[in-house]
Amino acid sequence: MRLTRKRWTICTISILLIVYKTREMGRNEAHQKTGLTGKSEPSSTRLMVNGSDKLFGFSLSDLSDMGVGWKMNATLGTIIRKDVLRFLDAERDVSVIKSSFKPGDTIHYVLDRRRTFNISQTLHSLLPEVSPMKNKTFKTCAVVGNSGVLLKSGCGKEIDSHGFVIRCNLAPLVEFADDVGLRSDFTTMNPSVIPRVYGALRDERQQERFIRRLQQLNNSVLWIPAFMVKGGERHVEIVNQLILKHKLKVRTAYPSLRLIHAVRGYWLTNKINIKRPSTGLLMYTMATRFCDEIHLYGFWPFPRDGSGNPVKYHYYDGLRYRYFSNAGPHRMPLEFKTLKRLHSKGALKLTTSKCTYP
Ligand SMILES: *[C@@H]1O[C@H](CO)[C@@H](O)[C@H](O)[C@H]1NC(C)=O
Ligand SMILES: *[C@@H]1O[C@H](CO)[C@@H](O)[C@H](O)[C@H]1NC(C)=O
Ligand SMILES: *[C@@H]1O[C@H](CO)[C@@H](O)[C@H](O)[C@H]1NC(C)=O
Ligand SMILES: *[C@@H]1O[C@H](CO)[C@@H](O)[C@H](O)[C@H]1NC(C)=O
Ligand SMILES: *[C@@H]1O[C@H](CO)[C@@H](O)[C@H](O)[C@H]1NC(C)=O
Repeated sequence: MRLTRKRWTICTISILLIVYKTREMGRNEAHQKTGLTGKSEPSSTRLMVNGSDKLFGFSLSDLSDMGVGWKMNATLGTIIRKDVLRFLDAERDVSVIKSSFKPGDTIHYVLDRRRTFNISQTLHSLLPEVSPMKNKTFKTCAVVGNSGVLLKSGCGKEIDSHGFVIRCNLAPLVEFADDVGLRSDFTTMNPSVIPRVYGALRDERQQERFIRRLQQLNNSVLWIPAFMVKGGERHVEIVNQLILKHKLKVRTAYPSLRLIHAVRGYWLTNKINIKRPSTGLLMYTMATRFCDEIHLYGFWPFPRDGSGNPVKYHYYDGLRYRYFSNAGPHRMPLEFKTLKRLHSKGALKLTTSKCTYP
């Protein structure tokens, strides 16, 4: 009798797991099309058509003048760093290193455990020997998101004045330098950028464009989440081959297999349930390890600004908003609300309007 019940329980759990996994995989596939920060699921519940709509209890117009009177609370910063360190050590989790693998090893995708990834010779030769963030600390850092809220912000100089600048998804800089700056110390690149922006690097013209963009990195870190979900491996391989062939000066890094779970765990213990943290939130969480003061720019997941003017999804392309609901893989409004709360407490500084840096 007891045995039967036990079997029944195991069976139910298995079925639940399968259902859960299948849903996850569906999401992974949709997710892969648009990338880690791209939103893949169409809106459903909270479609915002109006800048003055209330969202999670605050009105967008409350967000102007957030910078006035802001002060860093260093005590709180230290507490957060210690808490995050209980879940991940960004110095280590920022990248797997060469000695952890040999060519030919297979690993399971982080968000798709049934599929595997082969460590190629090319990838192995680009794994760093030691963490690219080893022994690094900075007084102030900038994490730059890609929201259109940066346009006409004049934030370029201020962003470049930070000791360490993190950028997302290989966003273009030169044409937007006044608003976004040029300095990059750490740049993320989802494999999905390759088909979406660089024509899968199929022809020479696209390859040249891509190479020119990587040359702008000027020997800083290029961070490629290669092991998250299946689908990007051939893009990662082509990128790696180009880097080697043209001896491009970039310091490649590939996040550890536990990073995303650890980041999710940290936020979950703070009662923030974010299943799939966005690149921006990952970067903030990692930056707590290295930076005393963290300034966020270009984080604005709403199609209108505080005065009701339209805001582009990305400052540099025509991608549309598609994630007003909390049903999608990312929970941008919830992330934003969380960051805003941390801003109010002086744990970080969120800049969503113009900069007045000299
Ligand atoms: C926007 O919201 C305000 C207040 O909720 C309302 O008066 C106004 O008609 C709305 N505008 C549009 C275009 O829906
Ligand atoms: C800074 O944060 C700590 C911890 O949350 C809090 O106890 C302290 O009152 C804060 N200090 C200021 C000046 O707000
Ligand atoms: C990984 O490598 C193994 C052995 O080298 C090979 O059999 C398998 O097809 C490879 N898988 C992929 C997805 O390339
Ligand atoms: C990091 O610091 C330690 C001790 O201060 C030193 O021994 C080590 O060589 C440093 N590593 C790097 C990569 O700079
Ligand atoms: C490239 O990096 C070097 C060393 O970090 C720095 O001195 C130089 O100004 C950078 N060049 C550009 C164009 O950013």
